[in-house]
Amino acid sequence: MTDPVYAASESRYEQMPYRRCGRSGVLLPALSLGLWHNFGSFKPFQEIKAMAHYAFDHGICHFDLANNYGPTYGTAEENFGHLMAASLKPYRDELFISTKAGWDMWPGPYGNWGSRKYLMASLDQSLKRMNLDYVDVFYSHRYDPATPLEETMQALVDIVRQGKALYAGISRYPTPKAAEAFRYLAERDVPCLLYQDRYNIIDRAPAEAGQLDLGWENGTGFISFSPLQQGLLTNRYLNGIPADSRMARNTSLKQSVLTETVLESLRGLDAIAQRRGQSLAGMALSWLLRDERMTSVIIGASSVAQIEDNLKALDFLSFSEEELQEIERFSVRIRESGI
Ligand SMILES: NC(=O)c1ccc[n+]([C@@H]2O[C@H](COP(=O)([O-])OP(=O)(O)OC[C@H]3O[C@@H](n4cnc5c(N)ncnc54)[C@H](OP(=O)(O)O)[C@@H]3O)[C@@H](O)[C@H]2O)c1
Repeated sequence: MTDPVYAASESRYEQMPYRRCGRSGVLLPALSLGLWHNFGSFKPFQEIKAMAHYAFDHGICHFDLANNYGPTYGTAEENFGHLMAASLKPYRDELFISTKAGWDMWPGPYGNWGSRKYLMASLDQSLKRMNLDYVDVFYSHRYDPATPLEETMQALVDIVRQGKALYAGISRYPTPKAAEAFRYLAERDVPCLLYQDRYNIIDRAPAEAGQLDLGWENGTGFISFSPLQQGLLTNRYLNGIPADSRMARNTSLKQSVLTETVLESLRGLDAIAQRRGQSLAGMALSWLLRDERMTSVIIGASSVAQIEDNLKALDFLSFSEEELQEIERFSVRIRESGI
């Protein structure tokens, strides 16, 4: 039953800037919300609901999922389905929802990588879990070197033609393969809407590998994930490792990355952020959004307070040349330490 107490804020579109996604009709919020870590079976549903409602009330209308988000796998989509049933269903046409397949999801040869068999079955499962008739964008979650690119791309084309996704996207493709994928999709009138990769103050790989420029020239939007390097680019670890933090779990964010050099550099970055009047997380997001090629950045968050803090990034999008150079020096030091 729909939650009778939730009515989205009337002012939800007043503060958030919306950016055009490549050469498409789609506008995306500068900040999107990702459901990788904090929306699964271990998080109380009340907290999930509070975060999703707070985000939507502040103009974050893009929610990014994948089949294996949780933990455990599938449970972020299941909880999103509960959320649709409880409160968001009336707002379906105001929401831009993505999911993906490409990483390990179920046992055996058909639950991983990029075959048509896996992608088609996985999207059907995702739609059921999320209580949706269609997603707005469906991604091939990673490049599969063993499957012909044509097979993976044709699956995306057919998924769009079947109406199960409105647009196609790809994530984590080497630049030449991304170029081939863009070409294949465009030739079939299903232009690639979004390219998704990790990009932040520390990790510059997509810019260095030419993906940002490639997408820009192709008319494909670029959406950055892990903009806070999973929480490293925040005040979370400046004074130890909090018990409720992602790093405490030591899974996707290893404790071994927090060396003395890294910590010193994070403190240096934090000092710049404080001078600018924002949090370190806020500065990391502002730094990304100052680039016009960035359609949106997908934040993760474990509390409403973090989303609130991250939204403030939108008020600080300009940087002086000195600030950029100083950030660069710390960033290089962190990268040279092997992260
Ligand atoms: N395509 C892909 O292959 C791929 C891969 C990874 C992620 N993604 C997408 O990108 C999304 C974001 O990734 P991510 O979760 O790694 O993003 P992130 O924004 O880099 O890190 C999120 C974590 O940072 C901490 N945090 C966030 N805001 C904070 C603040 N204001 N102050 C202090 N700490 C703060 C929280 O850590 P604590 O939990 O410790 O509080 C939060 O869980 C995912 O949910 C997913 O949708 C896609």
